[in-house]
Parts: sequence; C-alpha cells; structure tokens
Amino acid sequence: MSEFEIPETMMALQLTGVGAEKIELREVEVPRPEDDQVLCRVECAAACASDSKIIDQGPDHSLMHGWDPAKWPVTLGHEGCVTAVEVGSNWAERIKVGQRFAVQPAVPSGPSRHHERYDDAEAIRKIAVGYTLPGLFAEYVLIDPEVIETSCLIEIPDADMPHFAAALSEPISCVVAAQQHSFHITKESPEAPREVRLGMLPGGTTLLLGAGPMGLWHLEIAMSYGPDTIIVSEPNNARRARAEEFFARRAEDEGIDLVLTTPEELDRVIDQATDGVGVDDCIVALGIRPVQEKSFDYLGPGGVTNLFGGVKADDRMISVDARRIHYDSISVVGSSGSDPSDIAEAIDLIATDRLQPGKYVSAVGGLDAAGDLLQAVREQRMEGKGIIYPHSRRALAEIDGWSPEEERELLGTK
Ligand SMILES: NC(=O)c1ccc[n+]([C@@H]2O[C@H](COP(=O)([O-])OP(=O)(O)OC[C@H]3O[C@@H](n4cnc5c(N)ncnc54)[C@H](O)[C@@H]3O)[C@@H](O)[C@H]2O)c1
Repeated sequence: MSEFEIPETMMALQLTGVGAEKIELREVEVPRPEDDQVLCRVECAAACASDSKIIDQGPDHSLMHGWDPAKWPVTLGHEGCVTAVEVGSNWAERIKVGQRFAVQPAVPSGPSRHHERYDDAEAIRKIAVGYTLPGLFAEYVLIDPEVIETSCLIEIPDADMPHFAAALSEPISCVVAAQQHSFHITKESPEAPREVRLGMLPGGTTLLLGAGPMGLWHLEIAMSYGPDTIIVSEPNNARRARAEEFFARRAEDEGIDLVLTTPEELDRVIDQATDGVGVDDCIVALGIRPVQEKSFDYLGPGGVTNLFGGVKADDRMISVDARRIHYDSISVVGSSGSDPSDIAEAIDLIATDRLQPGKYVSAVGGLDAAGDLLQAVREQRMEGKGIIYPHSRRALAEIDGWSPEEERELLGTK
C-alpha cells in the first residue's frame, strides 16, 4: 500500500465512559474529510499525565463541556505529529498532501460540529484535540476547521526533525508558555520607573515542586533564565536521580546552584538557601491541591507561584493569606496549554539543538501498547515520556533515550 492510500477502517484508542476500564482499542471507520476538514495520518503520539484527568472525569472535565464519552466515545491523545493525506477543498491553497504538522491541542474556539453533544455549545470558547475533537492515539485523525483557523496545526519546517521530536514540541511548548506567565516587577532604583519582566527572576531562587516529565522540562527551561539557585522538591528517588543525571553538570557549568530535595526537607532547604527570605519563583508541576496551597508559603517578597498542574473540580478552592499579597506583593499565575507561537519556539529550541527531546523518551510502542502506556503514566511508572507509533504493532518497550536513527529503524524507513 502506498504511504497515502487510505484504508476504510483503522484502530483507535477510545474512551467509552469514565474510568480506566473504559479505555478500549477499537476498530472504527476512517473518516473522510468534508470541504472544511483535513484528514491526517498520525505519525506518532505521546502520552501525558493530563490524559488521566479526562479518563477520570469524563463529561465533568472542563474541556469536555458535558460531552459524555459513554454516549459518544472520544479518541484519546493530544500530543503528536501528523501528515496531511487528504485535504478538503477549502484548504487546498494552504495545505498540501504530505505536509507534516505538530498539533497544538487546546483550540481557542467553539466547536464547528456536534453542538447537540455539549451542555451549551454556543458558550464554549475552548475545545481540545484528544477531548471532544478527535485524538491522536489512532492511525488517522480528522482535523476540524477550527483547529486550522486558529493556527493550531503547525507546520514542521525541518524535514529532518524526527516525528517524536515534533510531537514533543507540544508539551515543551506548554512549559515555555507557563514560564512566560510568571512575571517580576523590577526597578533599577527607587527613582526609576517600574518594569515588568517575564519568566523566572535572573539571579533569584527558583523552586520546582515535582520532577515528573513536565517538571524536568521546567527545570531545563528555567535554567535558561539564569537564576542563582534552583531547588527541586520530589519525593520519588528515581526522579530526583534523573534530574541530577540530566542537569547537575550543566548547572555547575552555568554557575547555578542546583539543590535536589524531598518535600519533608523542603522548608529547611529553602530557609538555608534563601537566608529565611523565601524563593522568587515557584513552579508547581503537579496537580495536588494541598501542594498548590502550600506553595505560597515558600515565596519571599515579590515571589510568584505558578500553578502548572490543574486540580480536580472538587479541589478547586484554595486559601491564600491575603496579608502576604498585600504586604509582600506575592502573586499567583497559571496557564493551560500553549499558543502556536510557543510551539514555534519549542520547535526552534529543538531544531537548534538547545533542547534534546530524545533524552526524555523512556518508552516506545505500537498502537496496541497505547493503553498500557496510559496505565503506566497513571501509576507514575514512567520516568520520561512514552511515544506510540500508531502504524506499528509492538508491546511497550522501556528505553533510556531515543534517537532519530532508532525511530527510522522502528518504522523501517532507514
Ligand atoms: N499547564 C499545562 O499546560 C500542562 C501541560 C501538560 C501537563 N500539565 C500538568 O502538569 C503536571 C505534571 O505533569 P507530569 O507529566 O510531570 O506528571 P507526573 O504525575 O508524572 O509528575 C508529578 C510529580 O510530582 C511528584 N510529587 C508528588 N507529590 C509531591 C510533593 N508534595 N512535592 C513535590 N513533588 C511531588 C510526583 O512524585 C511526580 O514525580 C500534571 O498535573 C499535568 O496534568 C500541565
């Protein structure tokens, strides 16, 4: 079969209700594009801890807007690299068959289709690929017009960039975006005007809570802002060891004091590192309410905590000491997903070798391994990212890093 011959059916990993037992690998029809859609072949897709949130919350997830997967199964997967294989006539000028794209899954738009499946379709301002829009743990994906109109289908300019690197530009872009939501108000002198600077405070102390796959990217990107000290708190020994293995050398070379610690030791470590003042930046790279709440206590004057991980709807309320906001000017920021500009920045970081996504890959498999991968992510058995190649069938293999050559060998395109 030629690369772009399109079969009638395909396999797709779907959520058919709420809970892990409702994840099924199913044979479904390959949809054909209407004039305003594009059919893409999925080259690879990565799993994310956020996938667990839609699995556990179903219609209650904020990006589902009441859509019930028990009635209308959804295909999971929101990080991936795709190739256009059939282009609806409306897009003929803009998209060519064979063009490769990264997907920016959080689409700032209402849905063009299936309005009756949402609680209030007219009120929706954000939908997402791998939620109510078809996801990427499938051999093919139908791209709806709102994804293209909002520039969420982003061409990969570099033909040599491996599929896995293009796919990982999405989670990396979320970290780029998140860190640009932190800000510091600075003044050269008491007489000078105030200025706002985005990102971690150069010369300051950055605290990172959680060294999962996203936490490690936060650590890498935080280093580029040039803080004096980065403290990483993580209870899992293997994850702390991985952070040290990846970054201790670079931190030393760049004059950054990298301190790895546990939640139990954290208060003492912060006191020691900041002379009791508190940190300038905190990034909460996990979605646990008490940890988010506690993060405010670690901040020094002018400090900013960045709530990167989302919490369940029931856990949405936290308490904050209003006197510290008033007297110490502490702030809280957060972000979910990224913009196309952030994906472009992430692609540039990868293309110019300033960030090597391959070292973060710790499992690969075929589409039949996608369910196992999601389960491994749910149980935090994965040290890094797992990549699924939907057109291949193979069990999940644990690996320690991944390269363009290994990808070509797996796909038989060497
Ligand atoms: N904002 C966004 O755009 C965005 C994008 C992708 C992922 N996320 C979210 O980011 C979070 C992190 O993702 P991940 O893949 O690294 O998740 P993960 O669950 O693999 O990692 C979280 C880490 O936090 C550690 N941890 C648990 N309790 C802790 C504590 N008290 N103090 C410090 N560390 C603690 C865990 O041991 C684990 O290593 C998830 O909530 C995910 O949904 C957000």
